[in-house]
Amino acid sequence: MFEKPRWLKSRLHRHSPASADCRTLKDIFVKKRLLILGGTGDAAFLAVRASQIADIEVVSSLAGRTKQPLTPKMGTVRIGGFGGLAGLVGFLLDRPIDLLIDATHPFAAQISANAAVAAAECNIPYLLLVRPAWEMVEGDRWIEVASHSEAATALSAQSQRVFLTIGRQELAAFAGLDAMWFLMRAIDPPAPNTPVPNGKLLLARGPFSLEDERQLLLEYHIDTIVSKNSGGAATYAKIIAARELGIPVVMVQRPPIADVEQVADVEGAISWLISQ
Ligand SMILES: NC(=O)c1ccc[n+]([C@@H]2O[C@H](COP(=O)([O-])OP(=O)(O)OC[C@H]3O[C@@H](n4cnc5c(N)ncnc54)[C@H](OP(=O)(O)O)[C@@H]3O)[C@@H](O)[C@H]2O)c1
Repeated sequence: MFEKPRWLKSRLHRHSPASADCRTLKDIFVKKRLLILGGTGDAAFLAVRASQIADIEVVSSLAGRTKQPLTPKMGTVRIGGFGGLAGLVGFLLDRPIDLLIDATHPFAAQISANAAVAAAECNIPYLLLVRPAWEMVEGDRWIEVASHSEAATALSAQSQRVFLTIGRQELAAFAGLDAMWFLMRAIDPPAPNTPVPNGKLLLARGPFSLEDERQLLLEYHIDTIVSKNSGGAATYAKIIAARELGIPVVMVQRPPIADVEQVADVEGAISWLISQ
């Protein structure tokens, strides 16, 4: 009787009926299925670029945090957490996934940590797409801190009217600073019952222009900005505006990342995909 070669057994096992999803034989044997962990503009753009590679099938994953997410225009999209590391490992094996790119935000530390471990456990080629952090340049007045709670401590020494551009998830760290007024910018409002500092909430999604950022800082008489060091162009205008106006920026540094293969932009990720 015909004995299946090992590569075929493993491929058939990974594409077992439990994971059957109407893929053609060509899909199973020729196309590689790529999972992109997303939630960023880069991830959405990567999904489009990767879908244009003939032998790649793209699945994008979003956490489901925002009401109107940046949904990739090509490939399929799944939304919601996997259920921790074990859930992600199960997903990688069941779908099954052949290649994994983590293109989440640099501050999304938990999913990135899970992805690095899960890819190693499942022996799946894995890449981190992470845009470079912003670097301080002449004229910048940054106070670099390691966390949002350190940012809150740094503020109490010097500030009265603060622009909090950290999204909505870490607002609680500033809720006890009653002597200050905060302009808070986020895509969606904070969850009900979240402690929020005293001030005004602006709902907006980048990119933001330099002219608008400058105007905002002047209109609200902002004396300090708190920002994550997110990197990228979409939210950098506030840093330039702060430099021009001599406003200090309390800059929250990125959480550490695993020592894994990484690229800085979408084109780097495409080159990696082609090499797989
Ligand atoms: N943190 C930020 O400043 C920021 C800014 C812009 C965009 N985002 C995007 O928003 C998402 C959530 O950020 P976070 O800081 O809350 O992440 P996180 O703390 O690293 O992740 C918390 C949990 O959310 C789920 N999750 C996160 N990203 C996911 C994804 N792409 N697909 C499926 N599940 C995901 C995972 O749940 P399970 O454990 O159940 O799998 C993860 O353990 C990320 O995808 C990120 O790219 C974050």
